[in-house]
Amino acid sequence: MIQIAIMGLGTVGTGVAKVVEENAEQIQHKLGEPLRVKTVLVRHLKDGPYRHLMTDDFQKIEADPEIRVVVETIGGVGAAYEYTKRALAAGKHVVTANKQLVAEKGCELLELAKAHDVSYLFEASVGGGIPVLHPLTQCMAANRIDEIYGILNGTTNYILTRMVRAGATFAEALAEAQAKGYAEADPTADVAGIDAGRKTCILADLAFGRQVDPEQVPMEGIAGLSLEDVKIARRAGYRVKLLGRALRLPEGGHTAYVAPHLISEENPISNVEDVFNAVMVRGNATGEVMFYGKGAGEMPTASACVADVMECLQASPRRQEIGWSDSTEGFQDPAELRTRHYFRIAGSLSDAAAAFGDVEVLSENGETAFLTDVISGQDAARLSGKLNVRACMRVLA
Ligand code: HSE
Repeated sequence: MIQIAIMGLGTVGTGVAKVVEENAEQIQHKLGEPLRVKTVLVRHLKDGPYRHLMTDDFQKIEADPEIRVVVETIGGVGAAYEYTKRALAAGKHVVTANKQLVAEKGCELLELAKAHDVSYLFEASVGGGIPVLHPLTQCMAANRIDEIYGILNGTTNYILTRMVRAGATFAEALAEAQAKGYAEADPTADVAGIDAGRKTCILADLAFGRQVDPEQVPMEGIAGLSLEDVKIARRAGYRVKLLGRALRLPEGGHTAYVAPHLISEENPISNVEDVFNAVMVRGNATGEVMFYGKGAGEMPTASACVADVMECLQASPRRQEIGWSDSTEGFQDPAELRTRHYFRIAGSLSDAAAAFGDVEVLSENGETAFLTDVISGQDAARLSGKLNVRACMRVLA
């Protein structure tokens, strides 16, 4: 019998307990012995199906030699960081879905895990149930990763889909996403692009082997997005999606950011709807590889956590290196990145042409919507300085 503990009994923690219970037979078959949740750490003891496993005292987990793996689903950096360090120092493997903690402290926690000959695994922190970090660091390990972009937040993709397809209001669609367990405890992190930003950082850390700090990465969400632009884009053969991007730059170095983009409807990622996420990884040997699946929700995210638990046990004492250094060197401002830009201005085509020269007009209806040639973000801001800009987005090349 292998015993584990869960810290935090929210959406993901509950899902982990359910997967361990419901898939006990498959898990036992693969591990060679049964897996059991022995202890669940909660802030306040409460009634429910796991009441008999609950404690509000972390020391019960820390000091229990029978607990070999701890699943951290507390979220945030406070108690989750503290308990993760103590669990690793106590010689327990730790598995998490906590993207904030991994994005901010992942490198340090991996070092700590290494020092104690245990694993720190976080597949569930990016893309929910989609396997993407393991493929990136293992199956694509022989590549130089040149670019990663993706729809990395299920809540905002769900909101956009419901608003465009069913005419739901922003508030209605957000309430639905919360009811389905997709949104963060504070959904500002979803809506403002911060959740996608943390996941983008984790992908960039692993792809480039350098620390990409969330504070370095510009994050824009969907709050400023207008349905007007979604409609104009659609008529011109584009979809609007919130993308996280991490790229190597031709001049050297790398960059990362999160923002809504226009994506050609010929790109398969443009058709990713609802809570689904998709991540495109471009390796110099593989070319583009796409990962697709449910990016949030109780059971998909729990599936990734429990698979990591099983990997810890099978790869014991610890997993191989993934080459994430704490150096932040090489990060460049994404404003240098050159793409086409979409603008909607309160003005005429001649105003647009005076600022940008030749443009591709998408709509003229009192306002003018148009696409520029390929320009940097800096030039887009400078050249549009005198225009009355209603909307501006990059176009995914
Ligand atoms: N709030 C996140 C999302 C949960 O909507 O994608 C999964 O990380």
